[in-house]
Amino acid sequence: MHRFVPFIAVAASLLVLPGLGDPARAAGPADGPRRVSRMDFGKTPGGTPVELYTLSNGRITAKVMTYGAILTELDVPDRNGKPGDVVLGFDSLEGYLAGHPYFGATVGRVANRIGGAKFSLDGKDYQLAVNNGPNTLHGGNKGFDKVVWKAEDVSGPAGPAVKFTYRSPDGEEGYPGNLDVAVTYTVTDQDELKIDYKATTDKATPVVLTNHSYFNLAGPASGTILDHEVTLAASKYTPGDAGMIPTGAIESVKGTPLDFTTPTPIGARIKEIKADPVGYDHNFVIDPGARPAARVRDPRSGRVMEVSTTEPGVQFYTGNFLDGKVKGKGGVAYQQHQAFCLETQHFPDSVHHANFPSTILRPGQTYTQTTIYKFGVDSVPGLDRR
Ligand code: BGC
Repeated sequence: MHRFVPFIAVAASLLVLPGLGDPARAAGPADGPRRVSRMDFGKTPGGTPVELYTLSNGRITAKVMTYGAILTELDVPDRNGKPGDVVLGFDSLEGYLAGHPYFGATVGRVANRIGGAKFSLDGKDYQLAVNNGPNTLHGGNKGFDKVVWKAEDVSGPAGPAVKFTYRSPDGEEGYPGNLDVAVTYTVTDQDELKIDYKATTDKATPVVLTNHSYFNLAGPASGTILDHEVTLAASKYTPGDAGMIPTGAIESVKGTPLDFTTPTPIGARIKEIKADPVGYDHNFVIDPGARPAARVRDPRSGRVMEVSTTEPGVQFYTGNFLDGKVKGKGGVAYQQHQAFCLETQHFPDSVHHANFPSTILRPGQTYTQTTIYKFGVDSVPGLDRR
């Protein structure tokens, strides 16, 4: 198992190893230029202005915009201290407006699938948008990824932070109740991107919020992620039918290509998955209390990402539906398996499975979700030779 070297340790090594990286960038926790800046990022077809916020702790920089509360860019140093973007997306708002498979998006009101696009709650039937075969996916036709949120700089002791808020009206995409949602992105002094979600409602409704970033730790233009090494603290998963609706069973990953309990390259067994298009697109049950829930290492750049979450599940998706048709940053055509997603979530279709943790939020309750993406490197060239 490779090490996880935090950038702060890299920074300390720079004191004795001049020439490695840029000491100004790799300063100690409170020393970096911590800041939030704001710029105009265009307008929606309806004329609503969209803003882009840049959050930086001097080592890690995140860009997030009010359209879809989308993470558009995430710059992280590699093992030589050289920063680079690690998420797929577009250079301008137009790319996002033209339609895309949820790059960096905040997904809701209910992330993932609901079978048959309907559910009953407290004796009432609700019909949702049918947008994925006979099912509903990621909030419907106009989910939280396609609305313009309000933004506020809420930077504090934890680091530069921006809070996005949105009121999802009663009946939106078929869901009951006015839902007030807040999503806060923080770039912490511990080199984490932390996303906190909160929601309250005036009628009982299902709520599952997540972020749908497509990561490629070698950079969004650098081919497939099949060589990335993944560890998932998940000894179980929820098998699904052909439309990826859970059967309700919770099964062991042992002896299957879904066993990532020890570090394994994504490509090692991907062809054994019986799916068209081929690849991982499964909800894993995170072993209770596991921190981190997931760890990914890119052997080329040395970047390591650890994901910790309050959620019981994570959809591990390997960009199976990317087919070169979407041209992203720098005009690069995104190909199959060019990125992976780790969508921390409650289990798909929970409204139909009493044995899954409940996704129902009631008036007077507060929905919360926190997911932390922590960055470091697997080794530091000069340091490791000593
Ligand atoms: C789903 C995939 C889907 C992707 C983009 C993932 O969460 O599981 O099936 O293609 O999102 O929409």
